[in-house]
Amino acid sequence: MKIFLDTAQLESIKKWAFIIDGVTTNPTHLSKEGGDPSKVVHQICTLLDGKDVSVEITEIEPEKVYKQAKKITAIADNVVVKIPCCPIYFEVIQQLLSESVRINVTLLFSLIQGLIMCKFDVAYISPFVGRLEDIDCPGIELVQDLRTMIDQYNFDTQILAASLRSVHHFHQAVVAGADAITVPVDIFEKSLEHPLTKIGMQIFLEDWKKLDIDQFP
Ligand code: E4P
Repeated sequence: MKIFLDTAQLESIKKWAFIIDGVTTNPTHLSKEGGDPSKVVHQICTLLDGKDVSVEITEIEPEKVYKQAKKITAIADNVVVKIPCCPIYFEVIQQLLSESVRINVTLLFSLIQGLIMCKFDVAYISPFVGRLEDIDCPGIELVQDLRTMIDQYNFDTQILAASLRSVHHFHQAVVAGADAITVPVDIFEKSLEHPLTKIGMQIFLEDWKKLDIDQFP
């Protein structure tokens, strides 16, 4: 079970590098960071050497997507190229896979899209849970259905649950059997804490003080 941060913020990635298994970036994240996106991606890949860093294509035309994907994959060994699950890119995806490019198929919203990508044998498929719920469709159910399908047919593709917007989504994606999840930094940090842990620590501390001893043990 891999935990990725859904961000391009270097400081947060540095802070949590000892726990996370990688990062997923997208054009929105890189645009928010500003500066030279090639440099930012390079820095993230260096920081997370050996861990997967997803980097999305920004070209539209399939031929240009192919060329851009080759350039993206050349940035570092740990790059995974993100390509939207759109039929105009299916041949490009197959070509890139035949050249051993690792691919994360993003913006995936249905079981059948997932089935086709599993048959292609891409490294990851990213079902977007939050965006499905935005249009009143059950996001976690898609993760569950993909899990069932992959296990039923023994595909090697990993499910990377994406567009998770709450700690509850994170929890549900784990229970649904995602191989990996990606969460924004604030949700990740929130998920590490629990108010009852803090309250419990306070109670123990106050009770301990009643003993009034200097040294233990
Ligand atoms: C995943 O790879 C995407 O970057 C991300 O999860 C999108 O999340 P959003 O729908 O909250 O923008």
